[in-house]
Amino acid sequence: MSGHGPAMPMTSRKSGPLSGTAEVPGDKSISHRALILGALSVGETEITGLLEGQDVLDTARAMRAFGARVTQHGPGSWTVTGVGVGGFAEPDSVIDCGNSGTGVRLIMGAMATTDITATFTGDASLNKRPMGRVTDPLALFGAQSFGRRGGRLPLTLIGAAEPVPVEYRLPMPSAQVKSAVLLAGLNAPGQTVVIEDEPTRDHTERMLRGFGAEITTEETEAGRVITLTGQPELRAQRVAVPRDPSSAAFPVCAALMVPGSEVFVPGVSQNPTRNGLYLTLQEMGADLVLENPREEGGEPVADLRLRASRLKGIEVPAERAASMIDEYPVLAALAATASGVTVMRGIKELRVKESDRIDAMARGLEACGVRVEETEDSLTVHGMDVVPGRATVQTHLDHRIAMSFLCLGLVSAAPITVDDATPIATSFPAFEGLMAGLGAQITRDNR
Ligand code: S3P
Repeated sequence: MSGHGPAMPMTSRKSGPLSGTAEVPGDKSISHRALILGALSVGETEITGLLEGQDVLDTARAMRAFGARVTQHGPGSWTVTGVGVGGFAEPDSVIDCGNSGTGVRLIMGAMATTDITATFTGDASLNKRPMGRVTDPLALFGAQSFGRRGGRLPLTLIGAAEPVPVEYRLPMPSAQVKSAVLLAGLNAPGQTVVIEDEPTRDHTERMLRGFGAEITTEETEAGRVITLTGQPELRAQRVAVPRDPSSAAFPVCAALMVPGSEVFVPGVSQNPTRNGLYLTLQEMGADLVLENPREEGGEPVADLRLRASRLKGIEVPAERAASMIDEYPVLAALAATASGVTVMRGIKELRVKESDRIDAMARGLEACGVRVEETEDSLTVHGMDVVPGRATVQTHLDHRIAMSFLCLGLVSAAPITVDDATPIATSFPAFEGLMAGLGAQITRDNR
């Protein structure tokens, strides 16, 4: 929700070895999609392991506003009784997507080819983020949008009464834009085609297939071509949400940094469109073993076993960026403790996340005494034996900036404070308790 209460500073301090099992929450991307596809299906979809972070709760509320019945039965256990493709009702009030770019962009796609009107808003972070990247392709289907300057929220979307299918080449690597186009294509007659130059997370394609849509993906010289046949009858499914590799990244990186740590993280998605951080950590010399690889809920998962490791800086291949786009903040924090220099290129998209993450990490690391260089699309971090810390870092309503610096504070010489830890609840409400359970010294400052 967009109402942001008082800021809650949090401080992390040098900690003894972290140990134990870190059961991280369900995947955020898959949780949003399970609710939205459940709402577009006929019958009752049963979801287990749903992330109950604020971003996903906001999407659940939105699905109710569009006419679906969404019920929580127990922790992570939800059902969605859908209205079918093209069955969305017109919401009678503004749809507030809070902090969530994924929520608002996917929902706009899902309603854009139905003859209804909806108005969307979000918090101060979301209302600054570009929506033209979604409303431009939605206009090709026949939808109209009226937003603030630059297409920003609040924004009203008038769904196409007579949608036409679309062929669209993504101008930037964005799974949110790809997914918005595919969800809009559901209620357009004929075939909607999306072409991407670089593969981005493919949960929408996998789940659409699982819900009964006809959808194919072809690797061609022109890129990855995804073809969806419109107006399928989606059938309710059971969805078991795997644990989120982007949330796992925090206890994983913390355990690698804090000397003597040994941590086990079970059941984490290792979808190849999401596992770039884990490849990178192995290249940096991490003692990270993937055990028991298996398939759960249509996604490859594995258990992660790791021990604190002396890491070396590397150049992260730019073509890996899409598969670890949300992990650069915590990688930048970790790189500050590695030997040598870590160079991260091809990361321009980080400038339009919940905050400008290149800027937020660069300023925060500098405040902690770390040398960094940035360009429009890169960040270079010079590792040091001991990060001084003794800083208060601005998090700009960005959960991942907050968690990254709280991890770094576990090994810095003096504590690191983040100015506001409340956004952590958008993706990882149990972060504080989980990290405390491993032995991390992280405290609220207003106790
Ligand atoms: C997401 C896609 C990515 C990612 C976000 C979740 C998704 O955003 O950063 O956290 O679930 O589709 P972009 O599409 O902007 O790259």
